[in-house]
Amino acid sequence: MANPSILILPGDGIGPEVMAEVRKIIGWFGENRNLNFDLSEDLVGGAAYDAHGTPLTDATMAKAQSVDAVLLGAVGGPAYDDLDFSVKPERGLLRLRKEMDLFANLRPAQCFDALADFSSLKKDVVAGLDIMIVRELTSGSYFGEPRGISDLPDGQRVGINTQRYTTNEIRRVTRSAFELARKRGNKVCSMEKANVMESGILWREEVTWVHQNEYPDVELSHMYADNGAMQLVRWPKQFDVIVTDNLFGDILSDCAAMLTGSLGMLPSASLGVPMESGRPKAMYEPVHGSAPDITGQGKANPIACILSFAMALRYSFDKGGEAARLENAIETVLAAGARTADLLGPEGGSPISTSEMGDVIINALDASL
Ligand code: IPM
Ligand code: MG
Repeated sequence: MANPSILILPGDGIGPEVMAEVRKIIGWFGENRNLNFDLSEDLVGGAAYDAHGTPLTDATMAKAQSVDAVLLGAVGGPAYDDLDFSVKPERGLLRLRKEMDLFANLRPAQCFDALADFSSLKKDVVAGLDIMIVRELTSGSYFGEPRGISDLPDGQRVGINTQRYTTNEIRRVTRSAFELARKRGNKVCSMEKANVMESGILWREEVTWVHQNEYPDVELSHMYADNGAMQLVRWPKQFDVIVTDNLFGDILSDCAAMLTGSLGMLPSASLGVPMESGRPKAMYEPVHGSAPDITGQGKANPIACILSFAMALRYSFDKGGEAARLENAIETVLAAGARTADLLGPEGGSPISTSEMGDVIINALDASL
């Protein structure tokens, strides 16, 4: 049988630096665990714009559709701030999500014991934290029509985006959340603004419908998203799985990520419907951005991107044991004190570089054999 295929899209900023470490890790699994992948690499975001005048070419889009999984670094940067909206780096990422129909974005926020001191919250609030945000990724105000900026008769301008959700869009992401909950703490909290938005009312009704008809065994609660943000910093351990829309999910997941000490630690998986192979359409990417302020200095933390590959092992390639091996290796190096610059607390210390972090993780993998 052919090896499973992975398309690597390093993107912009620190994307290429962290992806270089992921390549080392992928190589390790080939050499030591007989897990071989057919890797190809292409451009996305500003890098694609520089080469082709578009943040994602049709050829790259077609490749992404044909592989077993996509691994993406990050997109964007100040050099592209003044570009026309239609060719901004982010449009490349959004096109991938939309055309691959990656409706379920899994964003786990887990606090590694070794890092509990580094959170901006008190240690007992975050120690042992393990929650999963399931963000709808292909609809809502990111894609709703009408949208745009236009002129009003009185000389003003108006900017419009539309929050829009259909029954099926809500039901399918809700099912993903309930499925995950069954394998975890068996609890789902759905977040919307049903107090002010009709789309929120429908969201709540449809989530409730899926619960009553298909997942009555899972505990379900509802929360207004603003309260959800507050509860996430007050007592995050009350949550197991959170399901929410595209825009609220964007905001709430940054909030949840910071609970764990650093945005440099958080992976994500974006999953769609199963392909012929039975594997879901899938793209894996760190939650952090392109971090232009530290690009090219060896300061970036590669762990979020490496953990994204661990999610690929688990969700695309059915290798949960190997994913756990990689996650344990990361836990081990953190416990031993390995720190990139973002992981140094107020008392400082001397950080290791991006590639040194990759190397110590490889050493920990070696020791796991
Ligand atoms: C994210 C990012 C993206 C988003 C940007 C880069 C388009 O913030 O994945 O959370 O808003 O979805
Ligand atoms: Mg975001």
